[in-house]
Amino acid sequence: MILGSSLGIAPSAVGLDRAPCPLCQGPHGRPVVRRSERLHFSLAYVQNVSLIALCRSPVGIDIESADRLQPQALLQRLHPAEVTALMALPYRQRKDAMLRCWTRKQAYVKGLGTGLAMPMSHVYVGLGFTSGGLDDLTARNGWALTSLTAPHGYAIGIALLPPPATRGRPTARIHTLRQSTEVTRTLQLASPAAG
Ligand SMILES: CC(C)(COP(=O)(O)OP(=O)(O)OC[C@H]1O[C@@H](n2cnc3c(N)ncnc32)[C@H](O)[C@@H]1OP(=O)(O)O)[C@@H](O)C(=O)NCCC(=O)NCCS
Repeated sequence: MILGSSLGIAPSAVGLDRAPCPLCQGPHGRPVVRRSERLHFSLAYVQNVSLIALCRSPVGIDIESADRLQPQALLQRLHPAEVTALMALPYRQRKDAMLRCWTRKQAYVKGLGTGLAMPMSHVYVGLGFTSGGLDDLTARNGWALTSLTAPHGYAIGIALLPPPATRGRPTARIHTLRQSTEVTRTLQLASPAAG
């Protein structure tokens, strides 16, 4: 329904495909809207919260709950520089920082379309801190990553790939659905991400 509304067509007319996987070219990359170059989206779910991010260029979004965090398992999937940064934090801040790092990382690999097939400990996204939302943008191979304000006990990461020719400020619209409530917000990049 949200995709149909964005495209100005009936929900039943929205066709979905899978982009080729960037690692093996198999048909299990990013879900994409069929025959539409101008609308990209990414989905994420946890417990009773669902997110969909819409953008004019590739986007990845992820949400995780602090309840489900398995710190020991996750540590193995962080980049060594992320582990070092994490251990430098006061103990009480580490869980939130780890959750933030993991959601940024998952958003990035969802944006790329590889998902967890990417060796996650080789991917550096940094810990990220949410303060005002936009001051934390990090340029990674042209991708901009940040953490979004999340419901208590959750973290949300988003990765955007602004098109190279972007002159304006790339934006994403994020719909959060929780039980029967839907909240929509817009994320606007301060400036196009550097490559
Ligand atoms: C994609 C993946 C990261 C999703 O993580 P998750 O925590 O299980 O689930 P999330 O709630 O974050 O996201 C689910 C959504 O991710 C999207 N998704 C699935 N595969 C994706 C991919 N390759 N790239 C981007 N998004 C993907 C889907 O829209 C899915 O929702 P849907 O099934 O309702 O359409 C994870 O399932 C994964 O990595 N799968 C394995 C991919 C793989 O090994 N591929 C082989 C490559 S050779």
